[in-house]
Amino acid sequence: MTSQRIRQVLVRKAKPRDAERINSFDRYFPHLATLSGPKGPFYTQFVAGEIASQTSSRKVVLVAEEKGLIVGYAWSNPLLEAGPAVDLDLIAVSPEMRRRGVSQVLIASSVEAYRRAGFKIAVAAVSELSFKAFEKAGWDYAPVGHEIRWEWPGASEAWFGPDMLSRHHDRVAFLRLTSDAPAIHVQPKVQTGAIAK
Ligand SMILES: CC(C)(COP(=O)(O)OP(=O)(O)OC[C@H]1O[C@@H](n2cnc3c(N)ncnc32)[C@H](O)[C@@H]1OP(=O)(O)O)[C@@H](O)C(=O)NCCC(=O)NCCS
Repeated sequence: MTSQRIRQVLVRKAKPRDAERINSFDRYFPHLATLSGPKGPFYTQFVAGEIASQTSSRKVVLVAEEKGLIVGYAWSNPLLEAGPAVDLDLIAVSPEMRRRGVSQVLIASSVEAYRRAGFKIAVAAVSELSFKAFEKAGWDYAPVGHEIRWEWPGASEAWFGPDMLSRHHDRVAFLRLTSDAPAIHVQPKVQTGAIAK
């Protein structure tokens, strides 16, 4: 991946040794911060292993650095069974570096990596506030309570919607990565059961 500098911020592929710093961003995600309390060395080791598996697993973990300090990261995973679609699963920028476009370069670099790898659709679970970063990056989004669907031969789970969101995310952002990407249909989520969450 080529590195990009925007306003002295360098975006590069994460390395296993970045795991501890990446984990420290968990506190900025309401849905992760409350999960299991402080994370120990075992968790750092787990995340380092995940980062090390980037090439084989096709996940892409990028960090944004300013003056040698990681000030943000973006973590994307291919969506299993959904065709050539990727979930930009986690993106965070340290509070003192926000509103400077750091998320823009992380989003753009993640998208570019997957576009080059042949992926055609990117999705992300977002909140009322974070969708603005994706909107600014040119992504579209589905209203609260809606899901998106697309068609891809052989894909059994070609959709992304409320069932996949935590309670801290209420909408779905999406982007077609190539002009031949399948059309994305936005539709109200159909309630299929009465399972209370
Ligand atoms: C979402 C997040 C990654 C955005 O990072 P960022 O680098 O500050 O984003 P940008 O500078 O590219 O800002 C993008 C746009 O989002 C909107 N925005 C971002 N923060 C905002 C705020 N506090 N109030 C109002 N609008 C805001 C603005 O429209 C902004 O564009 P502008 O500065 O030109 O007006 C960052 O706020 C964050 O880390 N949040 C906590 C973690 C999180 O919720 N992650 C997303 C879900 S996984």
